Amino acid sequence: MFTQYKFGTPIDTEAIINNVTPSFFVDGEYLSLAADHSILGENKDGYLFELSLDPEDIVYGLGENVRGINKRGHKYISFCSDDPSHSEDKNSLYGAHNFLLISSKARNLGLFFDTPSRVVFDIGFTDIDKLYVYVSSDSLTLNVFSGEPTPEETVRQFRAAIGQSYIPPKWAFGYAQSRWGYRSSEDIRRVYSSYKEADLPLDMIYIDIDYMERYKDFTINRESFGDFESLVSEMKDNGVHLVPIIDGGVKIEEGYEVYEEGIANNYFCKDKDNNDFVVGVWPGDCLFPDFLNDKARAWFGQKYKFLLDMGIEGFWNDMNEPAIFYSRKHLNEVYDKLEDYKSKELDLNNFFDFKDLVSGINNNDIDYKSFYNNYKGTTYNHYDVHNLYGYYMSRGAMEEFRKLTPNKDILLISRASYIGMHRYAGIWQGDNNSVWSHLLMNLKMMPSLNMCGFLYTGADLGGFNCNTTEDLLLRWTALNQFIPLMRNHSALGTRQQEFYRFKNIDLFRNLLIARYRMIPYIYDTFVSCVKTNSMMFKPLGFEFMDDPIAREIEDQLLVGNEIMIAPVVTQNTTGRVVYFPERMKEIRFENSAVTEGNTYEQGYHYINLPLGTTNFFLREGRKIPIAEEALSIDAAFMAQTKIYEY
Ligand code: GLC
Repeated sequence: MFTQYKFGTPIDTEAIINNVTPSFFVDGEYLSLAADHSILGENKDGYLFELSLDPEDIVYGLGENVRGINKRGHKYISFCSDDPSHSEDKNSLYGAHNFLLISSKARNLGLFFDTPSRVVFDIGFTDIDKLYVYVSSDSLTLNVFSGEPTPEETVRQFRAAIGQSYIPPKWAFGYAQSRWGYRSSEDIRRVYSSYKEADLPLDMIYIDIDYMERYKDFTINRESFGDFESLVSEMKDNGVHLVPIIDGGVKIEEGYEVYEEGIANNYFCKDKDNNDFVVGVWPGDCLFPDFLNDKARAWFGQKYKFLLDMGIEGFWNDMNEPAIFYSRKHLNEVYDKLEDYKSKELDLNNFFDFKDLVSGINNNDIDYKSFYNNYKGTTYNHYDVHNLYGYYMSRGAMEEFRKLTPNKDILLISRASYIGMHRYAGIWQGDNNSVWSHLLMNLKMMPSLNMCGFLYTGADLGGFNCNTTEDLLLRWTALNQFIPLMRNHSALGTRQQEFYRFKNIDLFRNLLIARYRMIPYIYDTFVSCVKTNSMMFKPLGFEFMDDPIAREIEDQLLVGNEIMIAPVVTQNTTGRVVYFPERMKEIRFENSAVTEGNTYEQGYHYINLPLGTTNFFLREGRKIPIAEEALSIDAAFMAQTKIYEY
């Protein structure tokens, strides 16, 4: 049952699609949802929702965020944030995915707090047995999904209400190499030829900000990418798609077409005095296009034509939380204050104030409250609609792609997102680190993102920040055998992590072949999950609801309806203990061959899985297709398949 409660005059985020009508609609001021023992009331800061949690309740959800599959025991904040340190103590990442699913034998309750402003989810943090949700707005749409016997059915109801997820082109299921630091056409050609020489497959190269002229969107740095158009076609002939980045901020520069057009049409965000709000991002002083404004959004979306015309068929939209290095106004204030410090001694208090003055300059709340968006004809303080910015940037792009290239599917991933954006683009999970806990976090985020409609997703394989190691990269590639968006990406200044740079190239090749062999299953499962509003990655507790051990497993997942995965996520181990909620048969990928392994009875078993080897476990009575050996994504789709069954 889908019940919708409206309080005040909520902003329509268009997360819920038009043609879905709730079974019940309540226009309320204050409410007690007696059946669920939950209370929603107004307080001075907005709305407070309160729900008692039973010990056996699992709280799933929140899409892209830190911590476990079960979200209990922490406070999470829904506010799209550019924070590259995804440590356990953080509260927000780049997406705002306000969906929770409370699941136990007694109930399956889905709650979607649909509001574009900041929301705090206190899930057993203040009181271990309580869920508190604070909404910092005087209006809210609360969507409640209840009455279904299983968590999966509850998700399906919710997903039906938010509309069908984005399906990228088939080639986007291949393997992508990316790095912040490819500075020229030659660098790109070198990556391609090094993969080729090492006999390693490659389907995409993502190109980061250096292809642009001084980081200006929709420009090409002709000094280093003089032959961009021929590079694109040459790579395409080699079976490699180039995927350039586009950033949220537009450089202020006279004569720069995007800036001039935006100014002429008033498409940029304004401050309270109706002046363009100047912020700093990669190119220096910039303006933010007001993606919430229909006209500005469509205009910016049309700008991608510049690259589409050069043969580009895929993009990644970045820095669209939006990330703010500084606002010009605040920066000037900081400079003035710094002058004062020159004459002071930096004692205990002064020193930390001084330090905070500079370190607190980016992504500052005061800046987010200092500019405005025009959404559906009304002007809002940005803070109140913040979580829609990346969503509408990517939505605008996809809406225009559908007009510009109606017969071609375009790949699009975004860093920031809100539920609703899943209909237009995928997401990557932002600037993670090359650490083992982030490999596990990649796995844990898959089901929560799937719940919220994000099916085309993945994390930076190998880790973005910090220096990766060969074993971490191998284990991460092994997990990515099953993950739709498979992109090896790393930050400027970190250890280079293209596969050909390592000792055991054969192991990387075997893992890529294993990925291609799984393509028929991955792609069919993906598309069928999109069409049936299902999750491709499920926690074990979704299927084995009566098994208390399965319900607590945080490092194994079901992929589709047929298989379970249990990747190795710790260093210096040649295997791991796997929990089998039922009898299953192992299928192994070793030295590029597929073998049928042992059958395991219900319970715990130690599974040997050396570096460069992968496996999955086939459920009893199920079967899956595995492709013959292929060395590219195109070949994988054409390859003969063999059915493995148990
Ligand atoms: C941001 C992105 C990252 C990219 C970098 C430079 O940090 O998240 O993926 O490499 O910007 O463009």
